[in-house]
Parts: sequence; C-alpha cells; structure tokens
Amino acid sequence: MTRLRAEDLTLAYEKRVVAEGLGVEIPDGSFTVIVGPNACGKSTLLRALARLLRPREGTVYLDGEPLLHDLNHACRYATHLIAMRGGEVLAEGPPAEIVTAGLVERVFGLPCRVIPDPETETPLIVPAGRRTLTAKTL
Ligand SMILES: Nc1ncnc2c1ncn2[C@@H]1O[C@H](COP(=O)(O)OP(=O)(O)OP(=O)(O)O)[C@@H](O)[C@H]1O
Ligand SMILES: [Mg+2]
Repeated sequence: MTRLRAEDLTLAYEKRVVAEGLGVEIPDGSFTVIVGPNACGKSTLLRALARLLRPREGTVYLDGEPLLHDLNHACRYATHLIAMRGGEVLAEGPPAEIVTAGLVERVFGLPCRVIPDPETETPLIVPAGRRTLTAKTL
C-alpha cells in the first residue's frame, strides 16, 4: 500500500521552477531514499511531502485524501475562519459564508466541491476525484 503519494506537482520558489509534472509514491514500510545531483530538487520534494512547501500545482495525498482533514475540521469547529495564501488574507468570516470551491482552489490549488456536511451543515470539502470507470464507460 502507499499512504503517501504526490501527483502532478509543480514546485517552485518565486521564479525558480524546480519541478513540473512530478509524481512519486512512497511505499508503506519502505526505507525510501532520494538520490540525485546537487540542486536537482531532492530537498524541495521532501519539503512538499512534509507540507513545508505548498505545491504551485498538483496535490500531495496522505491516505488517499489531499490533506484536507485540517480544513474540514476548521470548517466544522471554527466560527471565524481566516484563509491566507502567500502572506495575504484571501477571505475571512464564518466558514459557511466564505468557504467555496473557488476559495479552496485559490488557497490550496485544489479542485473540489463544497457541500453541506450532512451532520453539521458546515461546508464539507470533497476533492474532485477521477471518475470511476463503470461497466458502461468501459
Ligand atoms: N529557498 C529557495 N529559494 C530559491 N531557490 C531555492 C530555494 N531552495 C532551493 N532553491 C533552488 O531549488 C533547486 C533545488 O534545490 P534543492 O535544495 O531541492 O536541491 P537538492 O537536490 O536538495 O540539492 P542538494 O543535493 O544540494 O541538497 C536549486 O536550484 C536551488 O538553488
Ligand atoms: Mg538537499
């Protein structure tokens, strides 16, 4: 199984684009080592996997979820939410008023739908998935 994987990452510092279209899977229970010449992007990839660097594009998945737990928890429990990106406040207010698919896309670069949580009616962010192939589409 692979609990940690990244898909289609663009990693960059300001104007320096270090990686584009990068995908990796870290197999569970493996002792994974990244090798390559100086400045090829090893530490940058590790920063992205550890959430220390936000990918400009693409997504890091943990347990199949694009690291959304925090955000859905925030939507459930916060009464006032401040959404930031790059040192700027993009929106603030009650989660039900400000959390939209557009905001999540702008803040996290994550295509998603936002639906009411069936339990609490607070916003629930559902990552846009690939369509599952059914017998019909096959
Ligand atoms: N904070 C930063 N701001 C701008 N550019 C950076 C920053 N950190 C790294 N870079 C650039 O990103 C590229 C990838 O760097 P990274 O540190 O990921 O490489 P690395 O493979 O870990 O190298 P090394 O083997 O030297 O540890 C390099 O060109 C580096 O100059
Ligand atoms: Mg390094």
